[in-house]
Amino acid sequence: MSTEERGFSSRELTSIGVFTVLATLIGIGAYQIGFHRISGVQQGAGAAMSASQGPAPVNGQALYAGNCAGCHGANAAGGIGPALTATAAWSADQFKEAVLHGKAPEKELAPTMPRFATTGIDASPATDEQLNAIHDYITSLK
Ligand code: HEC
Repeated sequence: MSTEERGFSSRELTSIGVFTVLATLIGIGAYQIGFHRISGVQQGAGAAMSASQGPAPVNGQALYAGNCAGCHGANAAGGIGPALTATAAWSADQFKEAVLHGKAPEKELAPTMPRFATTGIDASPATDEQLNAIHDYITSLK
């Protein structure tokens, strides 16, 4: 047999062929998985870098949920504190006075309502941007 002369039986040649094809396929698969991993990591790093370039966007709904909803209820429908539907008509300055200092247009608010000038929002001094975002969120509830 001619294959015998070269040292391999035809059966051995078949196994070598199958093995080579499988090894190649596995190699390509592993390479692609590795490639996607690496490019995924690079994309993640890029996103993290661009996110750290500016301040985090202010989300009025999240600020409301974290600082006000416990008393004023989901959707500002009321709870321990009153519904804030009337508040939606207030100007941004009136809203700020009420939230920061407890001074509503027509009355001094009861001490149960925190003075956010003192307590801060999310434990940091409240910014105009945050107060406007919360006011916008309350105004958006209908
Ligand atoms: C610990 C409970 C509590 C938390 C937290 C709280 N409030 Fe209040 N809030 C009250 C209470 C009670 C009143 C009613 C006080 C009164 O009528 O004298 C009130 C009143 C108000 C008013 C006046 C409403 C009106 O019609 O007179 C506004 C505006 C207001 N809160 C906004 C907010 C915002 C915005 C937040 C979150 C940044 C917040 N409150 C967090 C308890 C709370």
